[in-house]
Amino acid sequence: MSALKPIRPELPDVTIRRLEDLLTGLAKRFGDLRGKVDMDPRPQIALPEIGGLAAAKREIQSLVLALRRPELHRRWGTVPVKGVLLYGPPGTGKTLLARALAHEAGAVFYHLRIRHIAFKWYGDSGDLIQEVFQALGGNGRSVLFLDEIEALSFDRMFPGEEARAASRRVITVVLERLEALAGMEETLAVASTNRPDAVDPSLVGPGRFDRLIEVPLPDGDEKREILAIHQRRAEAAAGRPLFRNVDYDAILARTVKMGGGDLAEILQRALEEKARREGAGEQPGPVETDDILRVIEDYRRIKEVVEKIRYGQYL
Ligand SMILES: Nc1ncnc2c1ncn2[C@@H]1O[C@H](COP(=O)(O)OP(=O)(O)OP(=O)(O)O)[C@@H](O)[C@H]1O
Ligand SMILES: [Mg+2]
Repeated sequence: MSALKPIRPELPDVTIRRLEDLLTGLAKRFGDLRGKVDMDPRPQIALPEIGGLAAAKREIQSLVLALRRPELHRRWGTVPVKGVLLYGPPGTGKTLLARALAHEAGAVFYHLRIRHIAFKWYGDSGDLIQEVFQALGGNGRSVLFLDEIEALSFDRMFPGEEARAASRRVITVVLERLEALAGMEETLAVASTNRPDAVDPSLVGPGRFDRLIEVPLPDGDEKREILAIHQRRAEAAAGRPLFRNVDYDAILARTVKMGGGDLAEILQRALEEKARREGAGEQPGPVETDDILRVIEDYRRIKEVVEKIRYGQYL
């Protein structure tokens, strides 16, 4: 990566304003886009801030290279990837990887939350997606992130013939737009799903979202790395040490089948508990193993319920 560092461009403010104007123009036609189509001109997460996922990060690095040095593909006669699908369980770092890809490439990050788009615009979702791709694709270096792409299969949410037809229309639009990206060296579409079984198969054919990247649950060493990243981040934010003598083995034994999102949440809760106790007039010491183990037990009880609420509609 370091050989590439010097050429990362800083996006000028005037460019950002122009892109914001494009989004404002779209909002005038379609209604409020916030939470559905969001732009982050300077995504802040770098690849080393993501724990584990060595194989996925290698793939991301080669995509970064394709965005930053498209001439390399021309020199070697290869066709750069235009559509990527990140798949894996909830909270394993898919969104982080997509943002880090944009960060490392010096690209603008556009977050299209497909489920929210589908709920708001339903049969007209294709029109919105088409306009977004037309306005933003090819407009400087950019990553168009289609989050929860399985939500393009409307008929899983609203069964019936009408939903099937609406779903076909919007999937056709996405595929057409993806084809159009072939001529745009600086734009990459990245889709993500934690329900690969629910993704419409026509999205993953050749020339479509054809670079599949697995984002699996972390193993023990990867969990340590993720915990360390989040501990460091909290300590950097607080400007002081917050953890003491953490016994990772004891924690790992109680976090089977958990991902980075769970681990981040557990540390967050342990820290919140300290803040709460300080607010109650106590003088709590740093977070230790027992504090974390207590939080884990509570968290395990609610995790299952949270997942049912979030993903239950597909079951
Ligand atoms: N590999 C990781 N390294 C560091 N932090 C992680 C990692 N994976 C997840 N996290 C933490 O969990 C949070 C959620 O991760 P992220 O949003 O990337 O998950 P996701 O795979 O996109 O999940 P979903 O399928 O629910 O969209 C992150 O903001 C981060 O705090
Ligand atoms: Mg995500």
